[in-house]
Amino acid sequence: MKEKIVFIGGKGGVGKSTTSAALALVRAEEGKKTLIVSTDPAHNLGDIFHTKLNHEKKKLTDNLWGMEVDAHEESARYIEGVKKNLEGLVKSKMVEEVHRQIDMASASPGAEEAALFDRITAIILEENEQFDHIIFDTAPTGHTLRLLTLPEMMTVWIDGMLEKRKKTNDNYTQLLNDGEPVEDPIYDVLQERREKFEAVREIVLDEEKTNFVFVMIPERLSILETEQAIKQLHQHHFHIRDIFVNKVLPDYADGTFLQKRREVEKEHLKELRETFRNQQLVEIPLYEEDIATLAQLKDFSNHLRHSMTGSKY
Ligand SMILES: Nc1ncnc2c1ncn2[C@@H]1O[C@H](COP(=O)(O)OP(=O)(O)O)[C@@H](O)[C@H]1O
Ligand SMILES: [Mg+2]
Repeated sequence: MKEKIVFIGGKGGVGKSTTSAALALVRAEEGKKTLIVSTDPAHNLGDIFHTKLNHEKKKLTDNLWGMEVDAHEESARYIEGVKKNLEGLVKSKMVEEVHRQIDMASASPGAEEAALFDRITAIILEENEQFDHIIFDTAPTGHTLRLLTLPEMMTVWIDGMLEKRKKTNDNYTQLLNDGEPVEDPIYDVLQERREKFEAVREIVLDEEKTNFVFVMIPERLSILETEQAIKQLHQHHFHIRDIFVNKVLPDYADGTFLQKRREVEKEHLKELRETFRNQQLVEIPLYEEDIATLAQLKDFSNHLRHSMTGSKY
């Protein structure tokens, strides 16, 4: 988990944000400049650090910065930018109609995801140099998977567009009959986007640079969900190598009720160790209370550091 970029995934409520924050603290305390980014529409990173976070990075503590990116906001900001760029280019009578069309396009399925992906791409490419680690606290699996496979789809789509524009431009060149290739700013923009996606794809598929961590709890449904998610990601060449098994009943938890739970949990732990033989498992105990204060987070993060040492971390 010493990789530069870490994506942390799993179902809601299993402890993604808490473990992401704790891992980020571990790195920051090692003296590594670390950025933690929440892409989950159900943001709670700011709550964990007892501060308000938004799309711009904010310093949280020594060596640690955080931000929350929101698909809806990213898309709205992007659309505003497009409208601004058009000002002065379109005749005033047309402005309303053009804005209407842009608004319609922005409401189409996938537009917000695309805007969010653009932002993630920019973060990876731009902050890469400045930070030793970038940790993404992501949304539940389906959403993240779509996000990760987006560059693949977008590249195919952009290639189609590039091909079309090239044909049009070639025809135009012939029409002008001077053999000079026509200048096409749209072609250049598409080409640039394609190159960015390609660059990001290379980074996230490079196992030396990027790691995918799953957070789960020792329960039957979580085992099934994680198994499924790992398979799906594997099909897209993303390999989960590490799993945080969170909320494991500690040995000192007593009482007959907990004793019964522990017996059931033991079976689940046995099963998940079998199922996830190819992954490195890091077990984290269930605490008596939520991880609500910064002191508790610090304690949690110390525990995470200990659980990670002794293994390959
Ligand atoms: N090991 C743990 N022991 C006790 N409470 C935990 C533990 N891990 C997480 N929690 C609590 O569980 C809740 C959900 O955790 P959170 O990190 O927000 O999950 P997610 O981001 O996956 O939705 C929070 O209230 C958090 O404080
Ligand atoms: Mg969360």
